[in-house]
Amino acid sequence: ISTPSPATTGPEPGETLPSGPSGDGLGDELFPALGNPGIDVDHYSLDLHYDPATDLIEATMTVALALTEQRPEVTLDAVGLLVDSVSVDGEDAEYAMEPEKVRVVLPAGSADDGEAEIAIGYQVDPSPTTSAVGLPSGWFDTAGGSYVLNEPDGARTWMPCNDHPSDKATYDITITVPTGLTGVANGELVEHRTEEGAEVWHWRESAPMATYLVLVLTGDYELVTGTGPHGVAIESAILREDIPVMQPFLDSIDDQIAFFEEWFGPYPFADYGIAMTDSDPGLAMENQGLSMFSRTDFGSGVLYETTEMLLSHELAHQWFGDAVTPARWIDIWLNESFATYGEWMWLDHVGIATLGSRAESALADRPPGSSASPPVTDLFGYNSYYGGAVVLHALR
Ligand code: ARG
Ligand code: ZN
Repeated sequence: ISTPSPATTGPEPGETLPSGPSGDGLGDELFPALGNPGIDVDHYSLDLHYDPATDLIEATMTVALALTEQRPEVTLDAVGLLVDSVSVDGEDAEYAMEPEKVRVVLPAGSADDGEAEIAIGYQVDPSPTTSAVGLPSGWFDTAGGSYVLNEPDGARTWMPCNDHPSDKATYDITITVPTGLTGVANGELVEHRTEEGAEVWHWRESAPMATYLVLVLTGDYELVTGTGPHGVAIESAILREDIPVMQPFLDSIDDQIAFFEEWFGPYPFADYGIAMTDSDPGLAMENQGLSMFSRTDFGSGVLYETTEMLLSHELAHQWFGDAVTPARWIDIWLNESFATYGEWMWLDHVGIATLGSRAESALADRPPGSSASPPVTDLFGYNSYYGGAVVLHALR
């Protein structure tokens, strides 16, 4: 299967709906077309089959949502997905593919109570895309597996969703992979079973989560479990051959959680872990309850400035970004500057660099521009991270 061109997907001729504007976007300042203003997703249930040998996804996404406006149809964000069936409350529904949306007609009589369950069967040969922000996001292949990095708008390239952080929801994610592989997602592992030629991994995220924080990993991962401060479940995903080298980082999790709890309040989720994936160096992501890092950055097995910075930054995001999430992308500094400040606090705590020295050099290097209104092309730029962290230091 190759990624379909939008014009050739959707219902048979004759069933095709007139295609509307390219989306009923939420009007986000930086990504106006993302999301749909008439829905509020409650729960995503994703049943995803993936084989790294073919790099194909076959999946069904079931979206339980409330209608916040009376409407005859709804859209979900979907880019490059080959949709082959859509139902609403169990009844086949008409749909049309638009370049960035799947438009679903609500069958007469459905959603009368203001709620609907939309199930979308689809296939995709996923690959990362570079959207307005200029960084690749979406689904990435690795040797023998895969990972995702969605932020800000890559989730829609491998799962249909209301792809905007203003609409958080809970998730059940079931990943079916060939025998011998592990499928990992956010939250707790509800079930692991083996089938003929396959293994099924069912994960549940019970705390509301933005789509950009969804993590799906496949590969030869070992799940390393433990218990952190006051019963926080620790569940990390480490490539089997990396277990010895990653031990110091696994051992550091508890102290880091305890440190941030003193300043930020109780760790906001039931579980935390680190996922060490086979991605490009320098890449790290605060996926909810399961921060993702590049194994290359941690290959030394040593806690030093770089590894301490990465680990503390993504953990601080669990409070700033994950538990409390900006409703508009233009407010990204509320994520990145607090995480950067958390990173500085930790480096100071472990004696690597003082907070004052970090803040002073960040201030000296600060380019013109505002932390509060980044252009989309500089969403993850200096001012969103260091510029805003200087502001926090000044306020403190
Ligand atoms: N939120 C991540 C971090 O600062 C950065 C993600 C950047 N997005 C991307 N597609 N590379 O930890
Ligand atoms: Zn960050």
